Amino acid sequence: MKIDVLTLFPEMFAAVTGSSMLGRAADRGIIDIRLTNIRDYTNDKHNRADDYPFGGGGGMVMMADPVFGALEAVNAAGKRILYMSPRGQIMDKAKIEELSELDELVILCGHYEGVDQRIIDHWAMEEVSIGDYVLTGGELPAMVLIDAVARLIPGVLGNESSAMDESVYSGLLEFPQYTKPREYRGMEVPEVLVSGNHKLIDLWRFRESLLLTKERRPDLFDEFVKNSGSLSKDERKILEEIVEIDV
Ligand code: ADE
Repeated sequence: MKIDVLTLFPEMFAAVTGSSMLGRAADRGIIDIRLTNIRDYTNDKHNRADDYPFGGGGGMVMMADPVFGALEAVNAAGKRILYMSPRGQIMDKAKIEELSELDELVILCGHYEGVDQRIIDHWAMEEVSIGDYVLTGGELPAMVLIDAVARLIPGVLGNESSAMDESVYSGLLEFPQYTKPREYRGMEVPEVLVSGNHKLIDLWRFRESLLLTKERRPDLFDEFVKNSGSLSKDERKILEEIVEIDV
């Protein structure tokens, strides 16, 4: 998957491009993140990429011309173009899954008070938010999106099954994990996890996931119960027990 990121702060992306997960994926040609500095496409002598808003008001607005230039330079026409913005639709698991199937994606990161609306309109951009809070720019949201999308692309994670097993993707929150030592400051690892009995371990994990989900995310729990047709007999027994109890 090729992802073009248009930004005034390409250096911020070292955090994702230098990460081990994306670094490995890039080395293997699975993901190709290309950073374009919008400032390289300014046409005025001061290299300005922003100006005051028509109509007044505080803050600065990113100008159409440098952004158009950057979009043209990456051949964005006809591609899916996202604009990271708190005004956008909040991204969720379905959105991330859908994006992970694309071959190409262009992401515009805004700054200041936003970008000239003509950019969004002309390029038919899809506005995407990572939540109901406002950050100083679209760079961190773009990195969140890239990280979440990349780990769903086959081959990016070492273990193919691990993305789908995790919280939210299985429909349940993830069960608690432990590692060595078996006892730490008097706290023991649950006995079943060192039993070597994989069937019991799986059932224990399933039970813990159900409990956690019912307590923290009753919305996900109800959804899981509704779609729980394919459970084994043992799993069903556990689910029925947990549906009954108060958490
Ligand atoms: N830019 C600023 N805040 C944002 C948010 N919450 N989501 C996406 N882009 C943003």
